Amino acid sequence: MSDFLWWRDGVIYQIYPRSFMDSNHDGIGDIPGIIQKLDYLKDLGIDAIWLSPVYPSPDNDFGYDISNYCDIDQKFGGIEAFDIFLEESHQRSIRVVMDLVLNHTSDQHEWFQQSKSSRNNPYRDWYIWKEARDGGKVPNNWQSRFGGSGWEWDSTTEAYFFHMFSKKQPDLNWRNPKVFNEILDIIKFWLDKGVDGFRLDVFNAYYKDENFQNNPHQIGLAKFDQQKHIHDLDQPEMFDFLKAFRQLLDSYPERYAVGETFMGDYHTAATYTGDQGLHAAFEFDFLNNHYKPSSFYKTIQQWENVLDQKGWPNYVLNNHDVIRSASRYTKSEDDDRLKVLATLMLTLRGTPFLYYGEEIGMRDIPIERKSDVLDPVGRQFWPFYKGRDGCRSPMQWNPEQNAGFSDATPWLPVHNNHHWRNVHSQSGDPDSLLNYYKKMLHIRKSTPVLQKGMYLPITYDPQKILAFVRQTSEQTALIALNFSKRNVGLVLSSQLLTGDWKLLISNKRDTFPVIRDRKILLEGNEALVILQG
Ligand code: NOJ
Ligand code: CA
Repeated sequence: MSDFLWWRDGVIYQIYPRSFMDSNHDGIGDIPGIIQKLDYLKDLGIDAIWLSPVYPSPDNDFGYDISNYCDIDQKFGGIEAFDIFLEESHQRSIRVVMDLVLNHTSDQHEWFQQSKSSRNNPYRDWYIWKEARDGGKVPNNWQSRFGGSGWEWDSTTEAYFFHMFSKKQPDLNWRNPKVFNEILDIIKFWLDKGVDGFRLDVFNAYYKDENFQNNPHQIGLAKFDQQKHIHDLDQPEMFDFLKAFRQLLDSYPERYAVGETFMGDYHTAATYTGDQGLHAAFEFDFLNNHYKPSSFYKTIQQWENVLDQKGWPNYVLNNHDVIRSASRYTKSEDDDRLKVLATLMLTLRGTPFLYYGEEIGMRDIPIERKSDVLDPVGRQFWPFYKGRDGCRSPMQWNPEQNAGFSDATPWLPVHNNHHWRNVHSQSGDPDSLLNYYKKMLHIRKSTPVLQKGMYLPITYDPQKILAFVRQTSEQTALIALNFSKRNVGLVLSSQLLTGDWKLLISNKRDTFPVIRDRKILLEGNEALVILQG
């Protein structure tokens, strides 16, 4: 397809590098490991890889605490491995999206080490330092998402510094033009290397209110949720950065940026997209849906409406911060519902983001003891919240030891179900979830209407059916999803049913369904895609 635009028409696959494939027997996934699996990804049918951070990091937050922005950690293979990875990916027409964590650095970053060494250090103003208030109190009521006050006392220079996440992740002072310019240089460094895009971690937190006003109170569970974040998030200065950033991206061909709108709803996310901002922003309501047509219908509709002509939608069911969709939506090891969701993800108007292992229906590993928890958030909030280790377990490649992920003990346990839930076993089973994803991905790629067509909802029944059409002037596709276990009839208008239709895919049948009295009878948990034109 000549006008194929990878980030709009393609599918992006997120890899959590520590957990994908270990090539050097240390129990930690690495870049040479990912290179070994590029043919698997090509065959699966994805178009781009988003790599969670691979920069040098002391791993307090497993890479989301960066100590050097222009290098790759040796545990992942160093910059040499990255260069090969980039080339090998591009040879297979797979683009590479890097994770940029620019709200904060690691406390081990040279800039912070300098900054905290003395009040006169040239890097002092690269972070957010404030005097104690009234004989020692914190400067204001801002909180850390990871628990407690956002202010940490530094005894060397007798001042507080601000951290929105852990105290080992001090926030940069974006109001300092030196920080702003340095960051643009870092982005240029990666663009010049040839990376295709960026995912911006919590970008809407970069700027904080310059007067450090207290956030107003609201009702919520955690302390952080008991505030309206009007002074520590979503400050107007963000748009100046986005403009400069976008100009830089646009000076290279086909570069892309997607932002993680922290704590933001779909309205907030949409404000950051467009020609002067990001190509896309994540909207997380979608992954909080119940397994109900009404829930999905609503979140799709609100995202379509708010983006209107302005931005391109994207959809995500999984990432490294949430319980896997397989564990959220199924209590058993049955994959029926996951096929319905795979069909939804890959037929909506918008870029689908898949998370490693989603294609084989990986479940979260159980987290039973506090002493097993590695995620700093889980250690902080145990037992109310057990953290994010569950969704970060090693990729299940085969039924062998450590699921073929590593010869050594993996950094997180492999799920017990790997003996039968793994890539190798599912490849050989024509009815597996993996083969369903592959088929669906290839259908999406070869059916222009599924990429570019407009989205027209037809109907939804609160508990049972969600049906919609994708349409261009040449093609119409009808997608009908039965969320219930029982057979359900979908009644269609006679206009819609004129002309020749063919079956594109169904998880329950191989031939075109019988239509009687304008009604298609869907089997329980059926996902059906038919095409005209
Ligand atoms: C959002 C990332 O997705 C999460 O994993 C991380 O802990 C925080 N940002 C802090 O960087
Ligand atoms: Ca390794």
